[in-house]
Amino acid sequence: MSIVRIAMDGPAGAGKSTIAKRVARELGIDYIDTGAMYRAFALKILRTGTDLKDADALAALLKDTDVDYAGGSIFLDGENVDGLIRTQEVSEMASVSSAVQAVRDKLVAAQQAMGKRKSLVMDGRDIGSKVFPDAELKFYITASSRVRAERRAIDMELAGQPCDVDQIQKEIETRDYRDMHRANSPLVKVADAIEIDTSDASLEESVAEVMGHINSFLSKRG
Ligand code: DC
Repeated sequence: MSIVRIAMDGPAGAGKSTIAKRVARELGIDYIDTGAMYRAFALKILRTGTDLKDADALAALLKDTDVDYAGGSIFLDGENVDGLIRTQEVSEMASVSSAVQAVRDKLVAAQQAMGKRKSLVMDGRDIGSKVFPDAELKFYITASSRVRAERRAIDMELAGQPCDVDQIQKEIETRDYRDMHRANSPLVKVADAIEIDTSDASLEESVAEVMGHINSFLSKRG
């Protein structure tokens, strides 16, 4: 198979990463979670107490930091930080620091290097628009904010955490707004992306829909 780079963008909680992982497994190619890369760098900012507004300190930190996603795990300066990047504190810092251009420049360059000579499925917010504008296939995975809040509430209940669906929905809408309206690489559905709305679909149905598009692309390309 010649190289195929599949971009999967969309808002938080629409099912992107679950679908992306499944598709990568079915195709036998790498999956890269770019959100995990932004989260790992956010963890570094928190650990070092770096002030994002101090451009010199941020530049020095970026120079001194290695973020890599390999074998389904995220590494910060060689340390596996899979278990440390999903906290509320890291989510908040990732949301703020991912809007800073110098941070994006470093991580986008690393992501582009990963797709140089390899097929992959990469999920994020700017994969089809900035990282691989020439990706062979682009998907925009979305779902209503209500459905995304309900899914998150189920996860939290299963984890024994108290939650309020209306409150979660408000937080999701605030985060969407921030992702879609930031000056640097806002979340957009690019013109050549295929939109997949998972609001009324099961995971199996969404994966089947995405795989249908991929298989049709691959059989046409021959
Ligand atoms: O997908 P996620 O929630 O793990 O992403 C963490 C943060 O990083 C989120 O605020 C969006 C941001 N992000 C980004 O700006 N660009 C990407 N390609 C991926 C994530």
